[in-house]
Amino acid sequence: MSTRPYSKIVILTGAGISAESGVATFRDPKGIWAEYDYQDVATPEGFSRDPAKVLEFYNMRRKLHGDVKPNAAHVAVSRLEAEFPGEVIVVTQNVDALHEAAGTQTLIHMHGEILKRLCNACQMRETWHDDFDANAQCPSCELRGTLRPDVVWFGEMPYHMEKIGAHLESADLFISIGTSGHVYPAAGFVAEARRSGAHTVELNLEPSEGASLFHETIHGKAGTIVPAYVDHLLEAATR
Ligand code: APR
Repeated sequence: MSTRPYSKIVILTGAGISAESGVATFRDPKGIWAEYDYQDVATPEGFSRDPAKVLEFYNMRRKLHGDVKPNAAHVAVSRLEAEFPGEVIVVTQNVDALHEAAGTQTLIHMHGEILKRLCNACQMRETWHDDFDANAQCPSCELRGTLRPDVVWFGEMPYHMEKIGAHLESADLFISIGTSGHVYPAAGFVAEARRSGAHTVELNLEPSEGASLFHETIHGKAGTIVPAYVDHLLEAATR
């Protein structure tokens, strides 16, 4: 493991970090995309075709998110942010709120948040924990049928890309946790970070699509390998 001193760490997380909290991943054999066609439930076209179906899918997922708790990997990421003597930025593809629940402060939700809804007409955004249907009324513009989950769908631009790009450019360590590396632009972050001279590390259950792009890869369950890697980084930083 590299022990060079770092001053700025960017961490990218994906569904695998939340798997041990009981949140389904997308592309594992029992993942969400094995059960649902993403074109139906996670594209703007699917939403125009059948808003009721899409909203039902997100109502179901929002309910499942109600009871989940952060696991040892989320807690370790939060501990790194609190104890590392430099900057730590967490960029997550996850729409769950488990990083926040574990105490992470500097967090970018690039694919949105399942516990928020957004009005397609007036861009109002609000925290929302309950079900809603295609007839729901926007509390701001008062139109009906314009509300959607505040989740980035396939074909849409992820949030905060400029800010993320600037963080990747100035990071000297990039860590990717629990993501299969199938979805861009997140899958391209490792190459961006490398171009800027960062050391790059993958922590995942198995080699991801882009595993060969990383300087280091550690494979195992996030709940085990993330706390161990954080211990190693903090030890090296305070030595
Ligand atoms: N610990 C670590 N990694 C795990 C664990 C675990 N306990 N369980 C599963 N994984 C790994 C899987 O091996 C897989 O490589 O997590 C990865 C999850 O990959 P995906 O299901 O593809 O999830 P993700 O990469 O986050 O997907 C990206 O795709 O559909 C979209 O918008 C959705 O944000 C999501 C994006």
